[in-house]
Amino acid sequence: MSTSFRVTPWEVEGLVNYDRLIKEFGTKPLTDELIEKTRELTKSDLPLFLRRRFFFSHRDYDLILRDYEEGRGFFLYTGRGPSGPMHIGHIIPFYMNRWFQEKFDVNLYIQITDDEKFIFKPDMKFRDAKMWAYDNILDIAAVGFDPSKTFIFQDSEYTKIYEMAVPISKKITFSTAKAVFGFNESSKIGMIFFPAIQAAPTFFERKRCLIPAAIDQDPYWRIQRDVAESLGYYKTAAIHGKFFPPLTGLSGKMSASMPETAIYLTDDPDTVRNKIWRFALTGGQATVKEQREKGGNPEKCVVFKWLEMFFEPDDEKLLQRYEDCKAGRILCGECKNYLIEKVQGFLKKHQRKRKIMEPVVKELKYTGKLAREMWDRSIPKELS
Ligand code: TRP
Repeated sequence: MSTSFRVTPWEVEGLVNYDRLIKEFGTKPLTDELIEKTRELTKSDLPLFLRRRFFFSHRDYDLILRDYEEGRGFFLYTGRGPSGPMHIGHIIPFYMNRWFQEKFDVNLYIQITDDEKFIFKPDMKFRDAKMWAYDNILDIAAVGFDPSKTFIFQDSEYTKIYEMAVPISKKITFSTAKAVFGFNESSKIGMIFFPAIQAAPTFFERKRCLIPAAIDQDPYWRIQRDVAESLGYYKTAAIHGKFFPPLTGLSGKMSASMPETAIYLTDDPDTVRNKIWRFALTGGQATVKEQREKGGNPEKCVVFKWLEMFFEPDDEKLLQRYEDCKAGRILCGECKNYLIEKVQGFLKKHQRKRKIMEPVVKELKYTGKLAREMWDRSIPKELS
């Protein structure tokens, strides 16, 4: 097994060892105790993201729960860099945000960094980054947040963000930015300023901010935490997610540049079937006979991982599948078919909601706000 991996806001390589990442990044493991406390405070069953440790690490999540308990409240912040179409791995953290918003009844700010993608990606045209921003907002809106408590904004349009970024930018030296992000003499000056833009939404309210997002974004929160208190704000809290593995293997993350590794939110049912059949890595044996005798390897199977991380919320069914696989009672084709149905079902619903959101997002684009009445009017009950 390879022990070398690399996680930065721009790339994820190799098989990530999440325990080691906690040490390297200086974050804390999300303990059973904190998860139990979450269950008590929300008075509801835990979502699989927490039960199955999709979220595994945090900064100051304990303080978020305390602030909530003591009535000070908190708010949520997350985001998306619109560099292309969104795939399944991109949308999952948004479901976690929805859960937090629902259970704690708090505001959520969603930053769409079309500026970032234009500046950091050498071949990206500004026009295209803006076009992807609109496209991605449709997918995000389709998740179904509380429209009266959600603000989705695009940096190039919501330029008021600059007002919060300015004081942050005055607190961060080039030498810190270099150490944290690896900038150098040939980095574009827009890159060097950008961390202030991504940190800015953590100051939207004078409450503690909780960021549920994949762990590769943590370097931004580190610098926010260095400067926040001197500006009269809270250090942001974060709860860190794992990467949803590519279809083709358990290392790295799904990549837009290798379309066969990912399932896009706009893929049709045949494409889903083809990709999973042709590309999904399983932990099966070479022959049916061997599989029946020795059993399969769910730990090494992407199909099982996808079920575990999102598509099979039923714990008993998941465990049964695990045991059936280990004992050689089921074959990889059966699991693939099962996953195909789950993914197709999810996308069918998602695509209908996305379609419904089109006029809504267009109409409200300039305020960035999705009004509750619009949502209630547009999304049929059975889809929400
Ligand atoms: N930099 C992120 C990306 O490339 C986008 C982003 C902006 C973000 N603000 C965020 C992600 C807050 C998570 C949380 O995708």
